[in-house]
Amino acid sequence: MRISILIAIAIASTACGAATPAPSDPPPVGQGPTAGACKSVATFTSSAAPQLQQDGCAGCHAGADAPATAAFNLTNLGKDNTAACSQALRDVNLANRPQSAIIQAAAGAQAHKGGKVADTQAFTNALLGWINNE
Ligand code: HEC
Repeated sequence: MRISILIAIAIASTACGAATPAPSDPPPVGQGPTAGACKSVATFTSSAAPQLQQDGCAGCHAGADAPATAAFNLTNLGKDNTAACSQALRDVNLANRPQSAIIQAAAGAQAHKGGKVADTQAFTNALLGWINNE
């Protein structure tokens, strides 16, 4: 639904201005100005990373599934957590932390090809243990 709305807007906005180049694909939900260095690699490493590893997120998000890795990149998880943290931060919404895509895709209302984790509360708490420090 959201993507079709964006496509409709994109089509509408190019229809009247012939010189306007078509905008590129909309960025994934959650991606945006928050991308950058983490403030708290320490809590990413102690709280979020073990949960992401326990729930097998890297099985798809560390290269095995290209669309998954493009949407949410965990190739550095457990190898270089500073880099992994700043990549994960792209799916964090600092204006509304519980609504971050990283939480909503795996444990909330957002549609997700990877499905939901078994214990959504434990996952949410572990992720917020990091995200609330960003
Ligand atoms: C079976 C493969 C698979 C697993 C396991 C998986 N994912 Fe995904 N994930 C995908 C695919 C494919 C996409 C891109 C399409 C979509 O959003 O559904 C995606 C997208 C995402 C996104 C991007 C959503 C957005 O709006 O930008 C996030 C965040 C995410 N996954 C988090 C996770 C987390 C956290 C875990 C572990 C709890 C996980 N995924 C496990 C396949 C997987």
